[in-house]
Amino acid sequence: MAPTSIINNQEKAQTPLKAKSAAGSNDDDFNEIVVKLANLKPIGFAKASKDIVTGGDKEWVDRLPKTTRERFEKYGVDLSDGYPYIPESDQIPKFVDEAFAIRSEDYPFIERGKNADPEKKALFGAAKDVIHLTPYIGTEIVGLQLSDLTDQQKDELALLIAERVVVFFKDQDLSPQKQLELGHYWGQVEVHPQAARAGRDLKGVTTIWQEYQKERAGYPLSFKNSKIGNSQWHSDLVHEHQTAGITHLHLDAIPPFGGETIWSSTYGAYDKLSPALKEFLDGKTAIYKSAHVYLDRKNPLRGPKHVEREHPIVRTHPATGWKYLFVNRSMTDRIVGLLKAESDVILNYLFKVIEENRDIQVTFSWQQQLPGLKSQPEGEQTYRGTSALWDNRISNHNVIHSEESINGRHGTRVTALADTGYFDPESKSQREALGLSLD
Ligand SMILES: [Fe+2]
Repeated sequence: MAPTSIINNQEKAQTPLKAKSAAGSNDDDFNEIVVKLANLKPIGFAKASKDIVTGGDKEWVDRLPKTTRERFEKYGVDLSDGYPYIPESDQIPKFVDEAFAIRSEDYPFIERGKNADPEKKALFGAAKDVIHLTPYIGTEIVGLQLSDLTDQQKDELALLIAERVVVFFKDQDLSPQKQLELGHYWGQVEVHPQAARAGRDLKGVTTIWQEYQKERAGYPLSFKNSKIGNSQWHSDLVHEHQTAGITHLHLDAIPPFGGETIWSSTYGAYDKLSPALKEFLDGKTAIYKSAHVYLDRKNPLRGPKHVEREHPIVRTHPATGWKYLFVNRSMTDRIVGLLKAESDVILNYLFKVIEENRDIQVTFSWQQQLPGLKSQPEGEQTYRGTSALWDNRISNHNVIHSEESINGRHGTRVTALADTGYFDPESKSQREALGLSLD
């Protein structure tokens, strides 16, 4: 942490806090404590058990998996300052109001799938195969490189994702820069204020590297404690003003086994509810919280708080026009207007519907394309990377992590933020729209 950034943070923190100190206490002592708290770890990493390295990590760059390093070197990702890059302390919000203010204004959003060809002739016509993995969630596109898609194909892919929730592309030769460019096409790319990323200038290319998180940040994943963080059912970035739409995870290194990801369709979850419960939920809103925590400027000594944002519980997807349930166990805190006890009962039921109905879920094994498999055709034995693109609005997901399966697993994620979320009372559920049985 550079000395100048400490001074800046102190100045920022001290100004509003002096007047708020308790009568009779020593202002200087109070401010000093607050500044120390604000710079702790930093605060956003309050759950980390180790001190956080900021800037380029020089110790971990040599631990990059082989296939990741090959990808980065091929596409000129600068590793000379270390890897990954973590924003410096003065870039990281300390107070909950600072974090709330990030992207809190409306940003123009074009729903790319909205006017796409419903038959998706350009996309499907160019693919070798289109494989639906379950009746209503999960499709694999075979024989197309994401980096070669035309705008028309990108629009059709956006519609396919809006309909099928998650779409997979194996054997991809995809640069982090191209992945970012695709994200910009589908929406405002989320730039995380403190998450590790692929480089100082690769804003929006988030590093997904659990092995790093565990060892470097003390992320407490173990055999006995394997249901934590992204191993719990969740949806990404629901505390944003415009929540996450098309989210693109590209794994450029995979372990020999484990680490499957499961997605659940919240179109399907909504259709599992009775008409009376649907009617009760339609038009209601809930409070959604951030994964990271910050200090309350007015009560800094009370400890870390989440950013909170209000959204409709039932939303309408702008591309399909279908209603979906917008809740997840990790980040949906409470339904507005209900007693906490009532809200807990209803939300818990909704979480169970999403999590326990296997028919509205798809489980994806990244190992279907292992490096060096003898059964793969000659010349195709090198793992190049697999992409999963899902719509965070209409899904929950989690990863099956074990201590063993995080080793050698690395990827980059780019998230395109979507609409602010709305509920159209005239819109239909997926099964209503498709003329399927509602029993
Ligand atoms: Fe996630």
